[in-house]
Amino acid sequence: MGIPVKMPPFKTVFVTGGAGYIGSHTVLELVEAGYEVIAVDNFTNCVCGTEGQAASLKRVEEITGKKITFYQCDLLDKPRLAEIFKKHKIDCVIHFAAMKAVGESMILPLLYYKNNLIGTINLLEVMKENNCLQLLFSSSCTIYGNPDHLPINEKHSIGNVTNVYGRTKYIIEEMLVDLSKAEPEWNIISLRYFNPVGAHHSGRMGEDPTKAFTNIMPYIGSVAIGRKPYLTVFGDDYNTPDGTGVRDYIHVMDLASGHVAAMAKLAASHLKIKAYNLGTGRGVTVLELVRTFEKVTKTKVPVQMLPRREGDIESMFADATLACEELGWTAERSLETMCEDYWRWQIANPNGYRETDTADVAAKLAAIKESHGECSCQSTVNGVH
Ligand code: WQD
Repeated sequence: MGIPVKMPPFKTVFVTGGAGYIGSHTVLELVEAGYEVIAVDNFTNCVCGTEGQAASLKRVEEITGKKITFYQCDLLDKPRLAEIFKKHKIDCVIHFAAMKAVGESMILPLLYYKNNLIGTINLLEVMKENNCLQLLFSSSCTIYGNPDHLPINEKHSIGNVTNVYGRTKYIIEEMLVDLSKAEPEWNIISLRYFNPVGAHHSGRMGEDPTKAFTNIMPYIGSVAIGRKPYLTVFGDDYNTPDGTGVRDYIHVMDLASGHVAAMAKLAASHLKIKAYNLGTGRGVTVLELVRTFEKVTKTKVPVQMLPRREGDIESMFADATLACEELGWTAERSLETMCEDYWRWQIANPNGYRETDTADVAAKLAAIKESHGECSCQSTVNGVH
């Protein structure tokens, strides 16, 4: 099969893990960019709404006024995946579906290898059977391991990973490189995310993990809303400006627009395979993040210092030049906006996407206002529990 010279622009995009946090925000961005989206998810880490619909994608439909085609599907169920895939003429696939809890991956390694690796192999085989060779893979800065220089660019070594989740992402990247060598007609971009945070500015979509979460922003939100007494800060003895860990926090909507830019690149040129960092290029300490959140939301986030968390890296932030030069993409939203957008989602949906009893909505929000005072990002009362 020859390498196509000029690709027609993509129309229909197949999104695995499309109901998840990053997946659903990317689906919104794709729909707003004019693509038709076919989304699948197995609901391992997102909320199944009424009639088996994806709660997050119902919000996308509400915001965009467009219908999303959604199927509940586990990538380990290859026959079902194949049956769904061949119903549509798919131009490109964005592959988000994966288990991603670092701590859990160390306790259940086989589950993570089976789910993340076999699920990906099933997807690639079904794509090949349907002659769809255009792929965006959701990778992670975790594959860089402990960086030996900062900022990290795409030439930095990969594979020196400290956890099973990150190793699955690394192995999949290597698998895709081998596939591309054997079958150069594939056209693949791996996007290496730094730390995605925030929510759509409407307050109608956001991060709503159904598994026990470990990432920092949902914890900060739980403290700010009064669900937890304080934020545990893991380590204040790092060689950083205030001793706490440094990360490159990127707004989830900037991450979403990075996918739209990467897909346009695939449609315009045959890269075979290439990786791009999606980060802001700015390192922020844990305490800087907390203080920014407090300033923006006018809430208090008490902290308690604990020793370092095992497997944590001291500092990690991106050199995002390549994505700017070759994808025409840079992250635009500030740390303040990340905090403001997250908080608007959190107070309007303290129970995430789970249906709530609207009867006590106003009471709950009044209690939040009472204890935290007004802030610039109060939103209309929608689904506050
Ligand atoms: C951030 C900082 C913690 C929680 C994750 C994913 C990884 C990748 C990037 C996508 C660290 C500190 C945290 C808390 C804290 N994402 N922290 N108290 O570990 O950088 O990596 O995002 O692929 O896969 O695992 O993110 O949010 O857990 O931690 O002090 O309660 O916040 O020590 O410095 P991490 P995180």
